[in-house]
Amino acid sequence: MTKEKKIFACQECGYLSVRWLGKCPSCGAWNSFYEELTHQKVSFNENQKPHLISEIKSSDSIRVSTTIGELDRTLGGGIVEGAVVLLSGEPGIGKSTLVLLVAAGLSNHGKKVLYVSAEESLQQIKMRAERLGIKNSEGLFFLPENELKAIGNVLESIIPDTLIIDSIQMIYDSEFEYPFGSVFQVRRVAQFLIEWAKKGNHSVFLIGHITKEGSIAGPKILEHLVDVVLYFEGDKLSNLRILRSMKNRFGSTDEIGVFRMDVSGLIEIPDSSHLFINNILATHPGLVFFPTQEGRRTILVEIQSLVTTSYLGIPRRTFTGLDYNRVNLILAVLEKKLNMNLANKDVYFNVSGGLKITEPAADLAIAVATISSCRDIPSPSETVFIGEIALTGEIRPVQHITSRIKEAARLGFKQAFVPIGCGDSFSEIKTMEVGWLGEVSHTIFKG
Ligand code: TYD
Ligand code: MG
Repeated sequence: MTKEKKIFACQECGYLSVRWLGKCPSCGAWNSFYEELTHQKVSFNENQKPHLISEIKSSDSIRVSTTIGELDRTLGGGIVEGAVVLLSGEPGIGKSTLVLLVAAGLSNHGKKVLYVSAEESLQQIKMRAERLGIKNSEGLFFLPENELKAIGNVLESIIPDTLIIDSIQMIYDSEFEYPFGSVFQVRRVAQFLIEWAKKGNHSVFLIGHITKEGSIAGPKILEHLVDVVLYFEGDKLSNLRILRSMKNRFGSTDEIGVFRMDVSGLIEIPDSSHLFINNILATHPGLVFFPTQEGRRTILVEIQSLVTTSYLGIPRRTFTGLDYNRVNLILAVLEKKLNMNLANKDVYFNVSGGLKITEPAADLAIAVATISSCRDIPSPSETVFIGEIALTGEIRPVQHITSRIKEAARLGFKQAFVPIGCGDSFSEIKTMEVGWLGEVSHTIFKG
C-alpha cells in the first residue's frame, strides 16, 4: 500500500506543515519551507523472524587508535571500524586542527585517509598543516569539494580507510534543490556517508557546526544517526580545550579529553588535575580548593568568593562558573542556619581557569569560601572541602569521594573535610568528617 502526499518542512528546524508558510511558527525562520515528497510505505517482509539472545553471535568490534591519546580516551579506547563520529563545537575552537592531526596520524600508521574540505581551500589546509609540522604523508589525500556525488566518485576510486568531512553542513546533493545546511541536505548527506561507512567498515569523522544556542545545527536526527557525538569546547579567553562525549554506541560517555591550543599546535594534556590551581599553599580569605569530577577525571579547582558591603538597593550576585540557583540556595542556608546577614552584601564567585561546576559536591566548598570572605579569615591551607549541603544545613555524601581524595592527596593536599561516613579509608590524607554546616564553621572559624 503506497500513499503519496505533499508536505512542507522547515529547513531550519524540521517543522512540518501541510501548506507552505512564509514564517516558521516553531523557530521563527523566514522562507524556510520547502516541499518534501513523502512515500508512506507499509509493506510486509515475510523473511523476517525474531532471534533469541542465545542465537546472536557476539562480535568483537575492532578498535583502532586515532594516534591522539586524549581523543582515544574520549572515544573509549580508539575508534571502532565502521563508526561514524560527529565532532561539533563553536567556530574557531579547533575542530579542523584536531581532525587534521588525526588524519596525519592515521596515514602515518599506514591508513588511507581522505579529508574532504568544503570550507577551506587547499592552501589554507596546507598552511595549517605546516603550522602543525605535518610533512609528507603517503596515504593522506585532500579534496576541496562540497557536492555529494563528486565526493562519492572519489570514495569509489580511492577507497579510503578513514573519511573526514569538514563540515557536514557545507555538503549538498545537487540532485535536490534544497540549500546546503538545510535539514533535507544534512540528513541526506549523513545517510549516504553512514551507509558507505557501514558497508565497507570505514570510519568517518563528520564536523558539525553548532548554532548560537549551542546545539548542533541541522536536524536532531543527525545526532540519532551517528554512533558517537563529541563536543569540543573551551573558553575563548583561555587556551584550554575539553573534548566531551555526549553519545557513544561503543563505550561510555564519562571520559573527557583535555588539550591546549598553542601557537604551534594542539597539545594533549594527559595529566590535567593540577591545571586549574596556582599554588596549593595559598591562603587568602575567600579562597577554597575543591576536587571536581569531570567524567572519570578529577580536577582540582579554586573556588574564589568575595563578599563586600553593598551600596545598591538590590545587592549584586555574580557567580562565574557556578550554577546561579545552586549558589543562591547555599547563601539562603547560610543566612538561615548560621545567622549570616548577606542582605546588604554583594557576593561574587569565580572558578579558576574558566571551568564550570554544577555538581552539588561543591556546595561545602562554596559555603566555606563565603564564610571565609565574610569573616576575612583564610580557610586552612592545603585543604579541600567536599560535600553536598541539604536545605537543613546537613552535609550529605557525594559521588566519587575516593577518586577526589586520592587525587587531592597526590597533588600534595594534607587535609580533606568530607561528609560523615566518607573518611575512614584514607591513609594518605587527614580526613575530617563533618555532618552539619555549623560544625564546619565552628571548627575552622571558631564560630
Ligand atoms: P580551527 O581548527 O580552524 O577551528 P575550527 O575548525 O573549530 O573552526 O582552529 C582555529 C583557531 O586555532 C584559529 O584561531 C587559530 C588557532 N590555532 C592555533 O592557535 N594554533 C595552531 O597550531 C593552529 C593550527 C590553530
Ligand atoms: Mg574548521
